[in-house]
Amino acid sequence: MKISFIGGGNMARALITGLLARGQAASDITVIEADADKRIELKDDFGVQSYDQLPAAANADVIVLAVKPQQLRDVAIFLGSLLDHQLVISIAAGVRCQDLIRWLGNYGAVVRVMPNTPAQVQAAISALFAASAVTAGQRQLAESVMKAVGMTLWLEDEGQMDAVTALSGSGPAYVFYFLEAMQQAGAELGLPAEQSRQLALETFLGAARLAADGTQDFATLRTQVTSKGGTTERALSSMESAGVKSSIIAAVQAAASRSRELGDVLGKD
Ligand SMILES: NC(=O)c1ccc[n+]([C@@H]2O[C@H](COP(=O)([O-])OP(=O)(O)OC[C@H]3O[C@@H](n4cnc5c(N)ncnc54)[C@H](OP(=O)(O)O)[C@@H]3O)[C@@H](O)[C@H]2O)c1
Repeated sequence: MKISFIGGGNMARALITGLLARGQAASDITVIEADADKRIELKDDFGVQSYDQLPAAANADVIVLAVKPQQLRDVAIFLGSLLDHQLVISIAAGVRCQDLIRWLGNYGAVVRVMPNTPAQVQAAISALFAASAVTAGQRQLAESVMKAVGMTLWLEDEGQMDAVTALSGSGPAYVFYFLEAMQQAGAELGLPAEQSRQLALETFLGAARLAADGTQDFATLRTQVTSKGGTTERALSSMESAGVKSSIIAAVQAAASRSRELGDVLGKD
């Protein structure tokens, strides 16, 4: 498979790392990147071909659009005339298929993806949505590209992409926020900062692994560590009184609403 990236930033680098680890030949990867220093780094780090002109991307089976959402329209308008057989994968947050297809001059072989930053360690969860013209073979191709950085799932309704953006796209930041609070609490209770960090982090990783390995739902797992009259019960009761769960739900809803707003703004031209 020949694959081109337009935009050689963080996400493209994560995908290239994952693809190379899965045996993709570096000689079949091309990156179009505006910044000259980044082009040199891409060549040095990965052995891929790197250019500053979009036409170099056209000789590929898959073209991944990995520029910032605000940069996508200009790229797509230029790219449209170069397309005849390629699958276009967009990872740009917020940009809807109908807008991208319009900017590409009604080129419909488009899959929209929302990955997340754990892609940098091949632990992403990516949600994919295929426009109606995408074939079964192209769906498989898109899935195999995104599997290079972690797990994948398909959405049948593009409207759900705002919820995905709010949950897993922005989600790593919520986890870091929670970890910051756990680390701070440990430090305020007298633990050295490094030990507090380690205890918070390993607890998170261990609990996540326990949940992932088993079949029990999150509420059951929580109940299992909450003895009557014990320390966990006291902590959870404090969280309930402070409205922590409802605040988290409201925060994720606010993120989804912002995602819808951004989609409207990005697609207005
Ligand atoms: N990071 C995340 O967590 C995450 C999660 C989900 C989705 N995404 C999406 O992934 C996309 C890429 O994110 P990122 O974090 O990798 O961004 P990034 O690091 O800014 O990378 C984008 C790169 O594309 C370059 N570029 C801009 N216009 C170009 C053009 N016309 N031709 C060639 N290269 C061009 C940029 O150069 P300049 O810097 O010089 O402009 C930059 O190096 C975004 O659309 C984002 O919404 C990111």
